[in-house]
Amino acid sequence: MHQRFAVLDNLSTLIALVSNNGQVVYSNSALEAALVSSHRLIVGTPLAQYFQEATAFQNALQAANLQQLGTLSFDAVLIDSFDKALSVYVSASQPEPNAEIWIEMHPQDAQAKQEREQRLSDQAQANKELVRNLAHEIKNPLGGIRGAAQLLEMDLPSPDLKEYTQVIIHESDRLQSLVDRLLAPHRQAKIVSDVNIHEVCERVRSVVLAQYPKGLQIKRDYDVSIPELRADKEQLIQVVLNIAQNACQAMGTLIENAQAQLILKTRIVNQVTLERHRYKLALELHIIDNGPGIEESIKDTLFFPLVSGRDGGSGLGLTIAQTFVVQHGGQIECSSVPGKTDFKILLPLP
Ligand SMILES: Nc1ncnc2c1ncn2[C@@H]1O[C@H](COP(=O)(O)OP(=O)(O)O)[C@@H](O)[C@H]1O
Ligand SMILES: [Mg+2]
Repeated sequence: MHQRFAVLDNLSTLIALVSNNGQVVYSNSALEAALVSSHRLIVGTPLAQYFQEATAFQNALQAANLQQLGTLSFDAVLIDSFDKALSVYVSASQPEPNAEIWIEMHPQDAQAKQEREQRLSDQAQANKELVRNLAHEIKNPLGGIRGAAQLLEMDLPSPDLKEYTQVIIHESDRLQSLVDRLLAPHRQAKIVSDVNIHEVCERVRSVVLAQYPKGLQIKRDYDVSIPELRADKEQLIQVVLNIAQNACQAMGTLIENAQAQLILKTRIVNQVTLERHRYKLALELHIIDNGPGIEESIKDTLFFPLVSGRDGGSGLGLTIAQTFVVQHGGQIECSSVPGKTDFKILLPLP
């Protein structure tokens, strides 16, 4: 029965089709697994019996019978056959009046995680906008300040005083270059072509090995079957290089002791959601180091501009990396404990 719904068995969402009086007509594999039950036992029973609190579900049924359903969403708790509870986010929809009703249930954990990720990404976006606007505001008067200092310098009565105008000029230049770097990633145009991710990795590998010829081992763990992606190669190199360079800087002592290890690992993943889009295929690139890990105090704001954990750091490396990856429709995540820091880059594949 319901051969045409077989495809729904591949989804991780729990799905039931119920009649107008709430009886289950069809349940997919994910729902059966969640309830620790079987098709045979579920079909024909009222779906309401699996909810801890059936009111919201009953309301949806009522709305359906009054032909007012459309789509209705609510939070609920499912109880499985061992009395274990599972929080779900339910959407009930009726494609047409009097038709059967589709009930989709998303386990809440995944839902909450996705919302959290989205919130963080929105926040990061807002932050970048703020910094960009601020950078513009600083940039505008800078030229004037520098120029005025130069004019002043020419008219100074005593050459000793030049020391002060030189400070103004020097500091203006420093600010100028900071502001330029803050604004740079947004100006750069994307040059898209077919890119092999392993060429990107290999380029980064040779650059990093040239910088650290001794004490650093770079391991490659490539899935060579990964298809080419449409991307800006130079930007991707910049992304991976920024991350790899941070790793090497963090592994300073290990490099001195010839114990530093960097791993470049690529994999294909199926069915991922990136920036609100769902992709069938994506590529996952891990850049893993065995350094001391990321300082707790900057973990939450790691990708924000000007957040740096080292002396003389600009705090722009990861901001730029994230900007480029997001421009490619992808996502960067980081997990870090002492001894293992893993930056994961996800990029959609065609
Ligand atoms: N692999 C890593 N291990 C430890 N700390 C890291 C690692 N990658 C990044 N960090 C921390 O994140 C900070 C921000 O990096 P980044 O944005 O590139 O700025 P910068 O390198 O200029 O400080 C670094 O200063 C460092 O403290
Ligand atoms: Mg850096």
